[in-house]
Amino acid sequence: MAEGLFRNFLKEKNIEGIECLSAGLGAFPGDEVSGNAVKAAGEKGADISSHRSRPLSMLLADRTDLFVCMTQSLAFAVKGALPEAKVTVLSGGIPDPFGGDLDVYRECVNKIIGGFGDILKLIEAENDEIKIVPMEEKHVLDILKIERECFSEPWTEDGIRAELTDKTARFIVAEKDGAGIGYCGMHEVCGECYIANIAVLPEYRRKGIAAKLLENLISHCEESSAEFLSLEVRVSNAPAISLYEKFGFKKQGERKDFYKNPKENALIMTRNFNVGDKDENTCN
Ligand code: COA
Repeated sequence: MAEGLFRNFLKEKNIEGIECLSAGLGAFPGDEVSGNAVKAAGEKGADISSHRSRPLSMLLADRTDLFVCMTQSLAFAVKGALPEAKVTVLSGGIPDPFGGDLDVYRECVNKIIGGFGDILKLIEAENDEIKIVPMEEKHVLDILKIERECFSEPWTEDGIRAELTDKTARFIVAEKDGAGIGYCGMHEVCGECYIANIAVLPEYRRKGIAAKLLENLISHCEESSAEFLSLEVRVSNAPAISLYEKFGFKKQGERKDFYKNPKENALIMTRNFNVGDKDENTCN
């Protein structure tokens, strides 16, 4: 009920970009929703008739930013299994209506809906915590840490610092509480843009941070009428390839043995921008 009602709540408020799924710690996969739940949620505009129960898998848990539990004991169990998880209890706890009549379910629905405002505030606060800012000297050591945690051949401190004075460079950092937790950089020459790197610290992955960084660079390319944005990626780097494909990059070819440690081919991926005919003399 909470999943369907929350989706309906987001739709009514025209809020996009929040994915909401429900799962049970002891649920069997594929069970149908009770008739009273369908009726009570339906009265508030949420059609949950086709919903089927789903157990909480590690895959789902791994991709979850906020666990909204229906009872304190569930929150306790989630916290026990996933100590790093961000957990809250909806409306202080929702009594299980199972086996009750329609009025019991209606009461439950009202209590569920009553807690949505607080959930939204928590989600918004979480999103606000990450800021995308231009790279500055104070980020150099954070980027060095990111490089060392993310790559087998990390950039050096001097190499990172050199980007601060490179006129063709546009490097941006994802900051949380003032610390750099992800970064992305590109070089732009005559409308041709090349991503130098993108990386997010392992503990902050799958929260949309790389997407925010890439969106920022793509907007810049569009505003500056760039022709294309291109990059190399290890052929085995499925997460990064998926990220680039999501943002419209297409595979263009391969560079043999481009990477060391381990030796591996690079895939060349490019996103073209519709810039029309460019004045050949704009770049000197
Ligand atoms: N498996 C599959 N797809 C993944 C993924 C994973 N583990 N991680 C990210 N993606 C793709 C998905 O398409 C995702 O969209 P979705 O959430 O709608 O499925 C999209 O990327 C955006 O995810 P996001 O949460 O913004 O990515 P992230 O902040 O976790 O960062 C990387 C993604 C690649 C930057 C991060 O995994 C990383 O730092 N890796 C090590 C460094 C690296 O390899 N950089 C690329 C060099 S070319």
